[in-house]
Parts: sequence; structure tokens; C-alpha cells
Amino acid sequence: MLKIGVVGATGMVGTAFMDILGERTFPVAELRPFASEASLGKKISLLGRDWPVQVLKPGCFDGLDLVFFSSGDDISKEWAPLAVKAGAFAVDNSAAFRMDSSISLVVPEVNGHLLSKGMKPAIIANPNCSTIQLVAALKPLSDKFGLEEVRVSSYQAVSGGGQAAHDELMGQVKDHENPAPQAQVFPHPILFNVIPQIGSFDDDGFCSEEVKIMKETRKILELPDLKVSAFTVRVPALNSHSESVWVTLKKEVSREDVVDAIRTGEGLVLQDDPKRSVYPTPRAVSGQDPVYVGRIHRDLENPKIWLMWVVSDNIRKGAALNGLQIAERIFDIKSRP
Ligand SMILES: NC(=O)c1ccc[n+]([C@@H]2O[C@H](COP(=O)([O-])OP(=O)(O)OC[C@H]3O[C@@H](n4cnc5c(N)ncnc54)[C@H](OP(=O)(O)O)[C@@H]3O)[C@@H](O)[C@H]2O)c1
Repeated sequence: MLKIGVVGATGMVGTAFMDILGERTFPVAELRPFASEASLGKKISLLGRDWPVQVLKPGCFDGLDLVFFSSGDDISKEWAPLAVKAGAFAVDNSAAFRMDSSISLVVPEVNGHLLSKGMKPAIIANPNCSTIQLVAALKPLSDKFGLEEVRVSSYQAVSGGGQAAHDELMGQVKDHENPAPQAQVFPHPILFNVIPQIGSFDDDGFCSEEVKIMKETRKILELPDLKVSAFTVRVPALNSHSESVWVTLKKEVSREDVVDAIRTGEGLVLQDDPKRSVYPTPRAVSGQDPVYVGRIHRDLENPKIWLMWVVSDNIRKGAALNGLQIAERIFDIKSRP
């Protein structure tokens, strides 16, 4: 039985983490939910008990085995090392430690070998949501055929921006006849729109979400020289990110080979019958655990290039579920829904 802390327990990812803990047989002896002062007085219900929300303070992690962080880079930078000092594993959902070479960045189906029962308490970084579903789909292709190059364009749901982003879209839906809705979370109104910006831009013209995908993909796949290029776009889907992916394999293989690799890949579900309009959509996969792949077809010019469509719930596999799967590996727990 484990004593667990959740920092950001009232947010989108924290709430999904509680839902998944409730669905699975993960052995929780104690839950310590943390949030901002604004949430003091709230209670989180789990396993038939109400656990009062606390604020972070010195000694708040004492006695915990695991702390899941989902409340932003600054809080993780300051508090995750303190959780480890107190003897807990810190599974960090922020971007604070992902590219630190001394810290493992893990998608269990892809590089779970970095985790083992008996390892000492440490910070383990949970990758960016759009990276997780991409590397999950690439892993079997990489293992079987080798990867030469990956190009990805994303269609990312508003829930990726947290509760405030979700609320901004819903507010614009209610006020949909307003010709000039206010945008605060996103740089432009998101209703009836698409926005080719997620995060801030660097001098090369890439936004921070694109840089995360490019760097994290190489690190997780352990392919430092892999060519990866990303273009990320926010769309007015409520939840689940979609990606169109062009992957250049090292060798020429048949469609059956590629489809079979995806069908048997860990954590993947194949939905690929486009002539009958069968392929994953963000509405349909929301609330589901796997990464869904469809529309697998060969490029007409280069026979080594394959196109595919990858969709997954960014709050579940893209954040909370992946974090819990990391904990399952560390503690050698097979908790199932
Ligand atoms: N949304 C996604 O798809 C996604 C995917 C991967 C990673 N992430 C990452 O996960 C993190 C959380 O994202 P989210 O979408 O859950 O955001 P969110 O809905 O905005 O939730 C933020 C959480 O942080 C808490 N918080 C704020 N200030 C705090 C403080 N001083 N001390 C303790 N807790 C504090 C909030 O508490 P209050 O309710 O009291 O304000 C809330 O529980 C971010 O780092 C994000 O980049 C998100």
C-alpha cells in the first residue's frame, strides 16, 4: 500500500489522475492532495474517503512514497527535488526536468527499461502529451524497420491548455453569436478557428510545443540523430490530440508489415478502414486509455515514407495515465481497470 501526494490535484490532469486511481486497483493507503490556497477547504473523494486539499509547505511530503506533480514548471522545479529528499519518487508532468540528461523521460511502452523495482527515489519526467502518443506509435516501427525521419503536424485540443483553456472555449460556445469574443488563454478566439501556435516562438520560427516534440522524441526513442520536424496547431476540439505523421523507414516494407507492427504494438489500437470512414477521432477516443492509429498509407513518391493518423486522450495517456504507468513500473504493481 502506497502513500501518494498529488500536486495540482484540482486541475485537469490531477482530476484525471484521481479518476484513474479510482478505476484501477492501484494500492493507495493515503492520499495527500495539494493545490493553491484558493482550493483550501475543498476535499478530493477517493476510495470511499474525502481527503482535504492542502497547500505546499516544508515537510509536506514526509512519509510519502510517491508524489505526482501537475501544476506547472515553477512549482515542479522548486518542490520535486524536495519530494525526493523526503524519500518519495517524484513523477513530474511539467517540462521542468524533461531534457535534463540526468533525468529519465519515460513512456513505459517505449523506454520502460529505464525504470525498475528497487531503484532509489528520483524525479522521473512524464513527456509532453503530444510527444507521448507520437512515440508510442513510432516505437514498433522503429524496432522492426528503423526510422530515418519523422514529420508531424498536430491538431491539439483545448484541454491541453488546462482548465482555463477548456473554460475559454466553453464560454465562447455559449456566446457564439458574439463577432469579437475575448481571448485570454489563447492568442486568438478558438471557437470556429484554428491557431498555429502552442507556446512561445523561438528565433527559428518554431513554437515551444514543437521544440518539445522534436527534442523529447529523440530522447525517448534513444535516437539522438533522428530527423524530427513538428508543426503544432490548436483546434477547437475539447479533448484528445490528433496528429498526422509522415514517417520515413530505413527500409522498404509492405503495408501488411506496417499495419501488423501497429496492430501488435503495446498500448496501440488500430482503427483503419478509411473507405468505411473508420479511423480514430478525438471525440471518440476521449476517456479511453490507448493510442489509436489509422489511415496508414504509403507516400506516392517515396516508398519508404508512410503516412498515419494518431489520436489519443491528452489528459489520460498524454499525462495522468502515463504517470501512473510509470509508478506501476517503479513499484512493480500491475493495477488494472
Ligand atoms: N492538460 C494537458 O493535456 C497536459 C498534458 C501534459 C502535461 N500537462 C502539464 O500538467 C500540468 C498541469 O496541467 P493542467 O492541465 O492540469 O492545468 P490546470 O487545469 O490549470 O491545473 C493546475 C493545477 O495546479 C494547481 N496549482 C496552482 N498553483 C499552485 C500552487 N501554488 N501550489 C500547488 N498547486 C497549485 C491548481 O490548483 P487550484 O485549482 O487551487 O488553482 C490546479 O490544481 C502543467 O505543467 C501542464 O503543462 C498538461
